Amino acid sequence: MSVSVELKGIGQSYPPPEEGGEMVEVVRDVNLTLGSGINMLLGPSGCGKSTLLKLMGGVRPYNVASPTAGEVLIDGEPCMGPHDDAVMVFQTYANRPDLSVRDNVALPFRFGLWKKRVPKAEQDQRVTEMLESVGLAEKAELMPAQLSGGQNQRVALARALVLRPRILLMDEPFGALDAQTREEMQHLLIKLYKQQPCLVVFVTHDVTEALLLGDRVLVLSTRPATIADDFEISEPRPRSQTWSRSTEATKMEERVLNQLHESSSGKGSVRVSI
Ligand SMILES: Nc1ncnc2c1ncn2[C@@H]1O[C@H](COP(=O)(O)OP(=O)(O)OP(=O)(O)O)[C@@H](O)[C@H]1O
Ligand SMILES: [Mg+2]
Repeated sequence: MSVSVELKGIGQSYPPPEEGGEMVEVVRDVNLTLGSGINMLLGPSGCGKSTLLKLMGGVRPYNVASPTAGEVLIDGEPCMGPHDDAVMVFQTYANRPDLSVRDNVALPFRFGLWKKRVPKAEQDQRVTEMLESVGLAEKAELMPAQLSGGQNQRVALARALVLRPRILLMDEPFGALDAQTREEMQHLLIKLYKQQPCLVVFVTHDVTEALLLGDRVLVLSTRPATIADDFEISEPRPRSQTWSRSTEATKMEERVLNQLHESSSGKGSVRVSI
């Protein structure tokens, strides 16, 4: 499976919060080519990570020109709107409270486009398999309110992957979870990625998470965001604690932290978990 997302000279400015103010330049001249693998995106708070992630999936903010410069190419084709092959997962998992776990996972098939492509019997089979994969087979008939935060995020992940997307965009998906649940979800993501490799872009504030999951780590500077650092990690996943404590990993961690501190002058936007 091959796929590419290319950002060419991307710039984004937003209208001023108050009338009469100046446009706010958030992203400046970002050039980036991403292929299959897990790409971790870090940067100071408010530097434009979510903005870039949405652009990669063709999601454009309401009433705002986006991007204001450059273009996004998916498989070499200009991407002008929401892309069929890209799905997003957010920190607020956005499960429908009125639907069961099973119906939440099956939700994407309700949209005409996917229905046509996937016959009903296969839809049902895929939903069942996804529920198994994320460990929620026994909770299929429960409602989201009856689940924990981690379980709700499993539902959101299952709903994203049931479409077998080629591009999976994750915006701080585990940011609101406690440390232990976050670790479980990181392992789950590694397992699911092995079953269903694709192009993942994963935004995080957590340097440890970036080093545990990423094939590639991208660090943005403060506003206007540009790519401040970009390196690869070749250590196979799952990565052991021994590796996490190795000189190689420690050097990478320092490299990212230094870059982030330089960019944000240490405003507390960075997290290292143990
Ligand atoms: N649709 C919009 N209209 C106007 N301003 C916006 C819009 N979307 C984002 N912004 C502004 O752009 C800047 C970057 O926002 P963005 O959400 O991309 O940053 P981020 O790096 O994801 O932040 P965080 O670390 O808090 O998640 C912020 O100052 C934000 O207020
Ligand atoms: Mg964000």
